Amino acid sequence: MKISYLGFNKICFLLSVFVCTAILLLLPWRQSDLAKLHPVLTCNVTCTTSYLEPPGDASRFSAQRSHSHHGFKEWETYDVNVKPVEATSEDQQHVKTSLQIEDLFIAVKTTKKYHKRRLNLIMQTWISQIKEQTFIFTDWEDQTLRQKAGDQMVNTNCSAVHTRQALCCKMAVEYDKFVLSGKKWFCHVDDDNYVNVYALLDLLSSFSHSTDVYVGRPSLDHPVETLDRVKGDGSVSLKFWFATGGAGFCISRGLALKMSPWASMGNFISTAEKVRLPDDCTIGYIIEGLLEVKMQHSNLFHSHLENLEKLSPDTVLQQVTLSYGGPENKRNVVKITGPFSLEDDPSRFKSLHCLLHPDTTWCPKQKPTSPIT
Ligand SMILES: *[C@@H]1O[C@H](CO)[C@@H](O)[C@H](O)[C@H]1NC(C)=O
Ligand SMILES: *[C@@H]1O[C@H](CO)[C@@H](O)[C@H](O)[C@H]1NC(C)=O
Repeated sequence: MKISYLGFNKICFLLSVFVCTAILLLLPWRQSDLAKLHPVLTCNVTCTTSYLEPPGDASRFSAQRSHSHHGFKEWETYDVNVKPVEATSEDQQHVKTSLQIEDLFIAVKTTKKYHKRRLNLIMQTWISQIKEQTFIFTDWEDQTLRQKAGDQMVNTNCSAVHTRQALCCKMAVEYDKFVLSGKKWFCHVDDDNYVNVYALLDLLSSFSHSTDVYVGRPSLDHPVETLDRVKGDGSVSLKFWFATGGAGFCISRGLALKMSPWASMGNFISTAEKVRLPDDCTIGYIIEGLLEVKMQHSNLFHSHLENLEKLSPDTVLQQVTLSYGGPENKRNVVKITGPFSLEDDPSRFKSLHCLLHPDTTWCPKQKPTSPIT
């Protein structure tokens, strides 16, 4: 009796050990199995993982995001009501809407070392026309700039290094600030851009801010391509266009709000981290790749990477954004005959500004044409 009772105890003990071991062994396997449920989008070159679940139902798709910046923890499912953009008659006709300067939110991205060299010039010129709507996103609490710009200067607390992470950090702050502003249009520009406010209003008034609009200059002559190992076996690719940040781009409020699961409250940083793409490229990835909204290609936006001399002088005043070559490429500037010499105005921005806004106090007064005798 005693022996069999002991034996029974042993069996019980061994059985519980076996069950515990089985549970312990099964747990990691189960977790990896769960992880497999989240589709992984793998791309060609640098990007490794993403978290896109392709739209099942055309009008709705859910996407998972991770709260943790380090891994696939705390998955949360978002249901984004994404209606495919149907070209309404309003879109097709490009009915001009009445758009005011007050409807815009312009984010200027800068960094500590350009506060003097670049910001002074644009604050003196185009920003002076649209001061209240322009926000300067920087990485340093510059007292001189704070005095000049007040609350229009935003210290992002992002790192001042020119890395993908630091740039994405600034874009994330820009996005959140825009959403809070309640404005109709988000436009991002760099500190070496000239923004022609009239041309910008004219361009944007041909769209409705409540529809999905993403407009800018494509940075390449072909879309960025990533291999999709989810839907296919890795032979199918996901292609998307993106607007180059250096030329500036604009996003309608309607579209910006749809970007929220991947862009708001710091999610932009984790999205960019997952796809390992630069800030402007990540914007394109979210809009074209995830939301399936087509970018509107415009040749009215210009970055310093272009040959700016080639722009016809007759059309310079109609461009939405312009740029200049900087110290490495001093001669890459727009060709215009304005009141300032190339020596006094190497970027041509001052001359350009006086041609667009001749009433500006520091612009030389036009000489009255002397009557021919
Ligand atoms: C940056 O840090 C300062 C001081 O802690 C804070 O007041 C400010 O809100 C921060 N900026 C952002 C964009 O979070
Ligand atoms: C993807 O890989 C192919 C083949 O190696 C290459 O031709 C293509 O340029 C790559 N795409 C990108 C975006 O680099």
